[in-house]
Amino acid sequence: MSEAAMRWKRWFLGFALAALAIVTPARGDDPPKKPDTGKLPPPVQMIAQQDHKRMMELLNIKELRRGANGRDPKAPNAANYDESKANPYPNLPDPLVLKNGKKVTTAQRWWKQRRPEIVEDFDREIYGRVPKDTPKVKWEVTTTEKQTVGDVPVVTKRLVGHVDNSSYPLITVDIRLTLTTPAAATRPVPVILEFGFGGFGGRGPGSGRGGPSWQQQVLAKGWGYAILVPNSIQADSGAGLTKGIIGLCNKGQPRKVDDWGALRAWAWGASRALDYFETVKAVDAKRVGIEGLSRYGKAAIVALAYEERFAIGFIGSSGEGGVKLHRRNFGELVENVASAGEYHWMAGNFLKYAGPLKWDDLPVDSHELVALCAPRPVFISVGSQQVEGGWVDAKGMFLAGVGAGPVYRLLGKKDLGTTQFPPQETALIDGAVAFRQHSGGHTTGPNWPAFLKFADRYFKGSSAAGPDKR
Ligand code: GCU
Repeated sequence: MSEAAMRWKRWFLGFALAALAIVTPARGDDPPKKPDTGKLPPPVQMIAQQDHKRMMELLNIKELRRGANGRDPKAPNAANYDESKANPYPNLPDPLVLKNGKKVTTAQRWWKQRRPEIVEDFDREIYGRVPKDTPKVKWEVTTTEKQTVGDVPVVTKRLVGHVDNSSYPLITVDIRLTLTTPAAATRPVPVILEFGFGGFGGRGPGSGRGGPSWQQQVLAKGWGYAILVPNSIQADSGAGLTKGIIGLCNKGQPRKVDDWGALRAWAWGASRALDYFETVKAVDAKRVGIEGLSRYGKAAIVALAYEERFAIGFIGSSGEGGVKLHRRNFGELVENVASAGEYHWMAGNFLKYAGPLKWDDLPVDSHELVALCAPRPVFISVGSQQVEGGWVDAKGMFLAGVGAGPVYRLLGKKDLGTTQFPPQETALIDGAVAFRQHSGGHTTGPNWPAFLKFADRYFKGSSAAGPDKR
């Protein structure tokens, strides 16, 4: 199947899954916990276009600029793939200058002043705020199975994370997760947690050439892996925003302009999985990595940036809304992510930057998202422009890695080591910010060996030291 056909298939599948999540009644089979449930107003039902319009009204926006057309190169708004037109705003916000204009020259000032400023900007304008008191999650192991993956005996636990819905019993959120660890392990092992695309199966062969799957490659290191189902936390649609964890916290009401979007909700779910790992002997919870592709690559960088307990990240083709610089005119644009099909990933406030404001008005850009991960290691992954296409903007993601460099250096780490975009299949993995463009399509597959080599440097040896943090 061609890349384009695969992309469509994925789109369709994602859409069908989201639609299914919406039409599935709020667990009619679960008896309500409180007798007075009938008095609660039911979750507001809206299609994405309605909620999108409502958000525009809240923001006083009459019109949004049109996104780029990635399908028709002849369209007047065809996506730009010409590097000479890609940088209308070459000056990025300086991650090491405080709002009051003072330079940040010490790690202490980074942690105490600058980092919180950047977090606040991302919270308010880009990804939204996670509510102060999110409900507790009770993890239940539903099955424990002995299996063999490749030739490695493993133990796989299937889990359901029941989210406390006593504040609003009309919405049930049951997070689905699997955890697989080597059966022969004699001590806690590092684990790579994946945001799973379409269930637990993972996607495609690990190497893209029929080699060992990513799971087999992880097990070959003696590590374990886990797969989290994002749709069980929050549906991938605007219509779903009054349900899932976001809807539960809002008691079925629509979002405010700075409420969290799906990316932060998925990342929140990953943190809850990490809470569970901290209670499990088989897992070295100080060495848990987060991995995802595409929209889940976006979720993975958001999770790594905000959750300091994640030790490392493998960020696959995250594109616009992920690692790609918002200020770049290449492939997908702010305007696409602000549209009714994708705005649910972000805070409502993000719409402003697709009209009347411009990308350059954003108080932060994605290099500062990468900087929030510092000094922890992050691997930025992308496919070939010929095979994957330019929609994800490989160079825009590379430049965000470059732009995070000063923060990594301030914290005593090596950065990417170059500002020159490297030839395909060149692994830049000597610093704490890593980058590799593989020769395949829209997948992390061919980059697993390079990522695992990179991660090995951090996960080797005893667990006593913990993750590479402050
Ligand atoms: C679309 C979308 C991207 C997203 C991708 C995916 O292409 O524009 O932002 O990353 O879908 O998740 O597959």
